This record gives sequence, structure tokens and C-alpha cells, in this order.
Amino acid sequence: MKKLLVANWKENPETEREALALFDATMRATIMKKADVVVCPPFVYLEEIGKRAKRFRGKYVSSIGAQDVFWEEGGPYTGEVGPRMLKQFGARYAIVGHSERRWLGETDAMVNHKVKRALMGGLKVILCVGESALVRRRGLSAAKQFVLSQLKKDLKDIPIPIRRKLIANLLIAYEPIWAIGTGRNDPPEDSRKMAIFIKRSLIRILHLSKSACNLPVLYGGSVNSRDVLDYVQYEEIDGALVGGASLKPSEFKNMITVVSDQK
Ligand code: PGA
Repeated sequence: MKKLLVANWKENPETEREALALFDATMRATIMKKADVVVCPPFVYLEEIGKRAKRFRGKYVSSIGAQDVFWEEGGPYTGEVGPRMLKQFGARYAIVGHSERRWLGETDAMVNHKVKRALMGGLKVILCVGESALVRRRGLSAAKQFVLSQLKKDLKDIPIPIRRKLIANLLIAYEPIWAIGTGRNDPPEDSRKMAIFIKRSLIRILHLSKSACNLPVLYGGSVNSRDVLDYVQYEEIDGALVGGASLKPSEFKNMITVVSDQK
């Protein structure tokens, strides 16, 4: 199966002009390699990038996404943006529960609302989970237990009609917090074990049948063009969520190339 690369631009770049140039460069590499890439720019650039993405329609397999989404479609919620607003600009994905949002105060209960409403609103959800350095110091088993408890809370009480949508529309990004933006990444074999653990846990948490379900799990945390293959070489790791490296056009192009050329 083709591996997915998700570019999380975070609060970058500073101007729309730079954002469009970065998007064009990413698209050129994506089209050349017929890669599977999702670009998640800041909200303010979505409209123009959405228009740009339409021009490439048919020539590429990639999409755009948002870095967050609110759980209400409208109303007195200052600063928030709902699924329908995002979809009108062409966003097909939303990242939910990124550790940088959790750090600002987002709780598992909030993440749970967001996951449900985004799925109901027809978005694909990239749910981020991952342990802190403090937890990881106690070992991989402790990290697994932490991730399991996040998954249980974030995917709690998913109604049956949405549960069916889940199979096609939920992706998990395993991002150990201590690996994000630090240049220290998880040993790939550990990420592989975590990906297997997450896939198995999802079957239990969501009451899915084993044969019907192999939900994608991405790895994220300081991935670059030199080490991305160490992760996606494994069948169980379905792609990567990329922050810093996705902001450097030639670096991200190299990443797209190595991942696409992987046999
Ligand atoms: P990073 O960010 O690649 O810069 O570590 C990943 C992420 O936060 O999604």
C-alpha cells in the first residue's frame, strides 16, 4: 500500500506568498512521484491553497487538511472553525489532539468531541497520541499503557453510525512528545511495536472485526528524508506526520522521492 506523508506546517510560514510557494513546490514533487501527500496549512491559508489544489485536480492524489477543528458547526464560539467551514475550502482531513494543542489545555474530552464531530462532518481525522519523556523513561510498556488510555478516552462512545465511517476515515498518528521538534526520534523498531499495539487496541476499543480493520498508523517526531524509510519500511507503519522537514521544499521533496521510490 502507498505510504502517506502528512505535512503539518503549524504556525508557518509567515506570509501567504511563502505559503503558496511552499505548496506549489510540494505539489510539483507530489505530482512527479504520484505520491500520497496531505498538506495541513494554518487556517488563514486554506482558502487560497484550496483554490490552488483544485487546479491540480486529477493530476495528483493529494489533499489538504486543517490542523484542528471545532466540535460545533456554528454559534457563539470565538476563534473556532467547524468541519463544514473547512470542507468548503477543500479540506478533507483534520489533525485532532496534537500534543501542542493538548499542551495549551485541550483535554481528552475535548479531543473526543472533535473526533466525533469531524467524522460526522465528513472529514478524515488524524488523531494524535503519544507519551511524554517522563512516561517513556519508564519503558515502552508504560508508553503503550499511556497511549491506550488516550485512545480509550479520545474514542469513547463513538455512536454506531459513525463507527462505520471510522474504518475509512480514522488515522492515528503516534507522536511521542519528546520526539517532536527535538531532533531525537523514536527507535523505528519501537514505533513499529507501538503501531501494532495501536492497531490491535483499536479493534478492541471500537469493537471492530479483525478482518475489516487495519486502521492506518503514522509515525511523527523529527522525521526527515534520511530516516523516514527506517519507519515506513515496516508494513505496520502507514506513513509519517512531518513538521519541520515539511517546511523545507528540497528536504520535503527528497522525502516524497524516497518514500515513493521505496520498493
Ligand atoms: P516535527 O513535528 O517533524 O517537527 O518533529 C511533527 C509534528 O508535530 O507533527
